[in-house]
Amino acid sequence: MTTIGLFDSGFGGLTVAREVRRQMPCANIEYYGDNGRAPYGSRTRDEIVRMTRQCVDFLASKDLDLLIIACNTATVAAFDQLTGKYPFPVIGVIEAGVNAAIATTKNNKVGVIATQFTIQSEAHKKAIQEANPEIDVIGKACPSFCPLIEAGLADSPEMDRDAREYLSVYKDSGIDTLVLACTHYPLIADTIRRHIPDGVAVVDPAVETVKQAIGVLKERGVVVQTCEPAAPGRETSSRREELERESERRDGSCECAPTYHFYTSGDPVHFEKLGSRFFGAPTGKVQQVKFE
Ligand code: DGL
Repeated sequence: MTTIGLFDSGFGGLTVAREVRRQMPCANIEYYGDNGRAPYGSRTRDEIVRMTRQCVDFLASKDLDLLIIACNTATVAAFDQLTGKYPFPVIGVIEAGVNAAIATTKNNKVGVIATQFTIQSEAHKKAIQEANPEIDVIGKACPSFCPLIEAGLADSPEMDRDAREYLSVYKDSGIDTLVLACTHYPLIADTIRRHIPDGVAVVDPAVETVKQAIGVLKERGVVVQTCEPAAPGRETSSRREELERESERRDGSCECAPTYHFYTSGDPVHFEKLGSRFFGAPTGKVQQVKFE
């Protein structure tokens, strides 16, 4: 069975993991969230590179077919230093966001919201304008979003207040497309929608990222999305039953029982609780793994 590794500074990568589960229902998932050291977005490039490498080296021991750096900040800071270093392909989330933005905008006015680090790098703006210099890109850092989500305050009045303030920049900007260029942000998509003009298309790069992952795997001859009989003993029977019920609901034919493993440098109980909500399925027991 195909195994996909995902890394993020915390809960954000779960928005990509849940998309992996949707598009590749038979794939195993190995997820590392560096919740104990989030947010990455206010850190220096050297710190982000060092921490990302530690987490990715850990995931590399999990027999992966492909790894997704499910964090825009880590993709900007560390992607070049990670590609080609492992026996499996590594993809980030920037390219997918950029392509989706270009494909979505009709009036060539795009907003990009992300962490301080990502916005300062202008990674999206440069890549979008390299493909089409006619596209105007207005970036806005939203530094409190990630810490509030990590703290379980995604639906809080503080979040609503900060969203109103950050997103006011788009009020009369004329954008028709807004890229959620931090993987945490799809978790507050409803709040974001409330504070941007009606009709603006909100782009979650997770969908394109997973399509890209499937394409890369196929190019390498890895068979994806094929249901295999569940391997006896790999899951508890109740977990397998639950997965089988879900599979039946999906397409009536899936009999596989993929394994999902979650690791965090933060509090594993907090991760189980919030992570299950964000992933859209129970995480099971989360293991704490920390690095210096
Ligand atoms: N989810 C991450 C991203 O996509 C970073 C959040 C953070 O740690 O600041 O950029």
